Amino acid sequence: MKIIRSREELQAALAVLPRPLGFVPTMGYFHEGHLSLMRASRRENRSTVVSLYVNPLQFGPQEDLARYPRDAERDRLLAEREGVDLLFTPDDEEMYPSVGRIPGSLQRTRVQVEGLSSIWEGASRPGHFEGVATVVVKLFHLVQPDTAYFGQKDYQQALVIQTLVRDLALPVTIRVLPTVREADGLALSSRNAYLSPQERQAAPRLYQSLRLGEELIRQGERDPQAVIWQMESFLSKEPLCRLDYVTVVAPETLLVPAAIRLPVALLGAAWFGKARLIDNLIVR
Ligand code: PAF
Repeated sequence: MKIIRSREELQAALAVLPRPLGFVPTMGYFHEGHLSLMRASRRENRSTVVSLYVNPLQFGPQEDLARYPRDAERDRLLAEREGVDLLFTPDDEEMYPSVGRIPGSLQRTRVQVEGLSSIWEGASRPGHFEGVATVVVKLFHLVQPDTAYFGQKDYQQALVIQTLVRDLALPVTIRVLPTVREADGLALSSRNAYLSPQERQAAPRLYQSLRLGEELIRQGERDPQAVIWQMESFLSKEPLCRLDYVTVVAPETLLVPAAIRLPVALLGAAWFGKARLIDNLIVR
């Protein structure tokens, strides 16, 4: 596996890689979720590129950019073991060159996916999806993959990316793969590293609340507000959980429907100590 730090080296290395090319964009601190994306890319392509870049543009000023978990050496070993061909690990200057920068801003040009970027995760994390969309478009231009792989755990992110690919006619296929979970249901996330042992025990409650919502819908509940209320009340019984939102939405628009018609997406976000966790479930 080649480790690549600059755009120039990347272009040279890409020129000799057999196609089709699969691409897994990541912020590192790999877990089984990332590895499942790498494996899918390896199965479905002749070459696989993984990017590892903690993108400052998608973090708010009060968020966890500085303490986001990092372990470059372990990530390198894991990617190598998965048979990844290139690991692209640019620094900030490589991704957001200082030439032409306005003070206080990494880059003038931003990609904005209207509507989808400003609700749920976007409402709690203003600017987040603009940062994600911008870096993903830039990475797609640099890597020119045939297929790019994302996890369903970040449901809204995957929808934002699918939408921008369609709207901007980018020549890449997006594959969204199932969330990988611990045995007790907790979705794997690099941010699980922030959980204390007690918070770790409490954290599966977020997924359990989504399962409860699913159960209510399967039993015939068609009022989204009733489902939301039951999920909220279930989460409020866990003292270590500080709820941001749980909701029932149409999978394509992320709007709460007047009445539930399948499929729907159940989305949730909650704090357990310093960890802000998100999860989702599609009821078909
Ligand atoms: O999901 C992530 O890890 C990031 O949001 C992504 C897609 C790599 C963009 O920085």
